[in-house]
Amino acid sequence: MNTTKAQKNPKSGKKAKPIDSLFEARLATALPTIQRLFEEIYGQNPASAHHLEMLVERLKKASDKRSVSLKKRDKEKSEDWFLSNEHCGMSLYVDRFCGNLSQMPSKLDYLEELEINLLHLMPIFESPEGESDGGYAVSDYRKVDAKFGTIEDLEHLVEKMQQKGMHLMLDIVLNHTSHHHEWAKKAKAGDPEFQDFYYMYENRWLPNQFDASMPEIFPESSPGNFTFVEECQKWVMTVFHNYQWDLNFRNPRVLIEMVDHILFYANLGVDILRIDAPAFIWKETGTSSQNLPQVHTLLQLIKACVKVSTPGMALLGEAIVSPKEIIKYFGTGEAKAKECDFAYNATQMALQWDMLATGDTQVMLAAQHDILQKPQGTSWISYTRCHDDIGLGFEDASIRNVGKDAWEHRNYLKDYFSGKYPNSPARGALFSSNPKTGDARISGTLASLCGLEKGIYESNEAEINLSVQKILLMQAHSFFIGGLPMVFYGDEVGYTNDYSFENDPTKSYDNRWMHRPLIDWKKNDRRNDAGSLENQIFTGTQRLLAIRKSLDMVADRGLLEWFSPHNIHVAAFSRTNEAGKFIGVFNFGGSEAFLTWYAFREKGFGDAVLHDHWSRKEFSVGQDHEHLILAPYGFHLFQVRG
Ligand code: GLC
Repeated sequence: MNTTKAQKNPKSGKKAKPIDSLFEARLATALPTIQRLFEEIYGQNPASAHHLEMLVERLKKASDKRSVSLKKRDKEKSEDWFLSNEHCGMSLYVDRFCGNLSQMPSKLDYLEELEINLLHLMPIFESPEGESDGGYAVSDYRKVDAKFGTIEDLEHLVEKMQQKGMHLMLDIVLNHTSHHHEWAKKAKAGDPEFQDFYYMYENRWLPNQFDASMPEIFPESSPGNFTFVEECQKWVMTVFHNYQWDLNFRNPRVLIEMVDHILFYANLGVDILRIDAPAFIWKETGTSSQNLPQVHTLLQLIKACVKVSTPGMALLGEAIVSPKEIIKYFGTGEAKAKECDFAYNATQMALQWDMLATGDTQVMLAAQHDILQKPQGTSWISYTRCHDDIGLGFEDASIRNVGKDAWEHRNYLKDYFSGKYPNSPARGALFSSNPKTGDARISGTLASLCGLEKGIYESNEAEINLSVQKILLMQAHSFFIGGLPMVFYGDEVGYTNDYSFENDPTKSYDNRWMHRPLIDWKKNDRRNDAGSLENQIFTGTQRLLAIRKSLDMVADRGLLEWFSPHNIHVAAFSRTNEAGKFIGVFNFGGSEAFLTWYAFREKGFGDAVLHDHWSRKEFSVGQDHEHLILAPYGFHLFQVRG
């Protein structure tokens, strides 16, 4: 029942704003939590009560501004709408995909053809050319960058998407602004009020203390964590690039303004908000200034605010940190499942690559303990890669626990994916190598890392075929492991690395551009040429997504259980929810693999008939001395029957 009423203002006789009783009820329920979390962070600030009032005022305004149709959409969404197996996403750069936002509506059919119904538009708000970090250095949070079009183009796109039942994901770049943002400009001009929006210091005393314990994120292109600002003769914290100034969330005004931007995005029709780099939003000397407890308090506060004003929007915390830390972004203790609704399963993403390079599933299995701690009601974004590098972020202990040397193992992975290891089929590159720590991450497209680039270069048909099989294996594993699959644009038709970034001075310092393709629609159209590479990869990906959509039992509402490792090359798991049981079996080895049927029997699937949605064949669980035989890099997507 909608009890919204318009009341007359007794003095003016004019109609006052209608009271939104649903909003009021949500606010009344959440206010004690909002107050507690706010005071936990800002309680010591003498103006804390005034700032809390300001925040609540913004919540009211955002709710007032929320359109009737979005409020209706909020009501129609169930509390856990985002756990459904029917959502499949794609991340893309609008300009590199189709030019600009006004072209996007004409590409929605293509996405639908691929079974994609959630669109992650990489940052589209104003960001200075040449100092943009792919849009993650925002100079105006409300203005669509002219190169993408206008806010009206975005609104038009959202309308078209909603008509098709599609969902939208956008980013809020929470940790930093561009140094061209108006706050930064005022800070540069010497305004102390805005200098307090950033971590700004007159001398190197505090910067040195921070630097002593903070790791470097881009050690090659942006060493250190501070930049000297000539205009005001001060040091400002710049954890990422020197043009990305870290916001000071110790200042309550920063939080209030950023919440306001978040709600503004929600009111544009965003269904999932990707919170960029949340791990970094609180800094303390003597710590790594990542994943600090205050980060979680702030995120819980943001979640509570969103729930009150714009309840249909889910939050994704982009915390690409160690497995033990990632899991905390779902909330812990009393706040369990009350922080981010989604996190990237960055650990499993990296472990898939580990399995592909080694043909061995043991390290992956040893790392499952942390991943399986994900609370019910929350979910993963599952992916094989994204616009960023692949960080080998799993713990050394997972490597050591299976009797391997962590240092050697990581070196092997780096050499394998950068193509340095003898006969490695992969063609990638190391990103952000840090000679001080030996750390390095990996750039490269899915296809190039799976061997397609080398296969094509050497006209090696066998290698090409194997690479297609590997691409589909990697996608299948990530689509069915649990969570919302996010395809990176271009991977659906096998784009290999694009090295042209090397000749562009605005990009050459960042080799992540090698895996951010410029779409050539003639290539994508070859998906319709039967037998072409594009056709094989596109139709395979499409079929995987269609299978996933048809199986309620892979909605993220149940339990994932790993099979015992009877064959180290094979990763096998069952997933169970009220809709039934699914078993995924994946051979990461380059030879045929034999998996004893005992592996199924010991999990209680003794009498089962297994319908493989991929090969469209039925299998009966056989005797203990018999085996399921998997092709090299082959897989099965079983629905358990009988
Ligand atoms: C996130 C983005 C990455 C960017 C960084 C700084 O990790 O995914 O592309 O460089 O934040 O904003």
